Amino acid sequence: MSHHPDSIAPHGGMLINRICSPEQKAHFLDQANHLPRVTLDERALSDLQLIAIGGFSPLTGFMAKADYDSVVNTMHLANGLPWSIPITLPVASDLAASFSLGSNIRLDDPSGQFVGVLHLSEKYPYDKLHEALHVYRTNEEKHPGVNVLYNQGEINLAGEVWLLERHPHPYFPTYQIDPVESRALFRDKGWKTIVGFQTRNPIHRAHEYIIKCALETVDGLFLHPLVGATKSDDIPADVRMRCYEILLERYFPHERVILAINPAAMRYAGPREAIFHALVRKNYGCTHFIVGRDHAGVGDYYGTYDAQYIFDEFEPGELGIQPMKFEHAFYCKRTGQMATTKTSPSEPEERVHLSGTKVREMLRRGELPPPEFSRPEVAAELARAMQITVGV
Ligand code: ADX
Repeated sequence: MSHHPDSIAPHGGMLINRICSPEQKAHFLDQANHLPRVTLDERALSDLQLIAIGGFSPLTGFMAKADYDSVVNTMHLANGLPWSIPITLPVASDLAASFSLGSNIRLDDPSGQFVGVLHLSEKYPYDKLHEALHVYRTNEEKHPGVNVLYNQGEINLAGEVWLLERHPHPYFPTYQIDPVESRALFRDKGWKTIVGFQTRNPIHRAHEYIIKCALETVDGLFLHPLVGATKSDDIPADVRMRCYEILLERYFPHERVILAINPAAMRYAGPREAIFHALVRKNYGCTHFIVGRDHAGVGDYYGTYDAQYIFDEFEPGELGIQPMKFEHAFYCKRTGQMATTKTSPSEPEERVHLSGTKVREMLRRGELPPPEFSRPEVAAELARAMQITVGV
């Protein structure tokens, strides 16, 4: 897929497309019953899709050992391009032993549907503790990303993949805007500068504030909530999507915003994931990417601004997308507006800020977050959804 000279180049220069042509698909379907198989979990399915649609360009498959080692140790692929998160297909040792190198493996989704093919070029053991300490900066099993790592298979399967078919998303088909399409949309709208926003939480006023501060200086906003696997106590994607719709409808200029889903799974890797999130948005055509406080963090594993500092570990221009860094935003009672300590002279007691965890606790008690924290329409939607959940 070529890109327009005016738009930002995908990571590595070319947008990857690993979706089968009708002929390839027919060929693989013919072989379907004879191929050895691996059943993907939700995260691996997300990764397969993202590789196929070019969201993970320049990756064309699950990482071989040279890339894996280089990414874990140096945050670069073996060819020198920045990349911060291993994209691997781990399986149990006995299953791995049953596969021969050079063969095609059938990839099934968690429900057993044939969805893709892996051409097995390598299989290798890896050091989970080493990956945990480097990628997640902790070896604690309580960390949700480390927990997944410790419970996954011992052998990584590597090789190029094909996605059999790109199906519409089952719940959010109109918001499934893949990199080829987002790039075309930005072009059609004449946007030269586009800021990407990653989020996995119900949108609150601090989000709205930093998004709008960013939007003041660029042409368009790509609101890109993550809808892949998240930890069980995060708010479900369908509820979050309704909150974004409600907020956009009433509080944003429609011609400046595109809402689209990011099919990725959350890793909760904080700083490393911020780099990864930025590179993925670059592939969608964004020129800028918002990194606020404790981006992609969980618990107390990362410092408030570690996900911003990590951008300084790369050469200027090396990432090819501009981070837009924001301090912790809150509602300031003194000035009567959203602010950060960069713009507000307030004392701490004049600031309203709530964490996602506190808001979830309030909702469980049947209380609505205050209007300084959440737009009332969004709070009402959250309350409605939580009651349904609690009522089950
Ligand atoms: S994340 O896991 O996707 O980072 P969340 O949806 O809460 O979680 O955050 C989305 C983005 O908004 C991240 O860049 C995060 O740093 C930023 N952010 C969230 N809350 C605030 C806040 N109060 N002040 C500044 N930035 C924030």
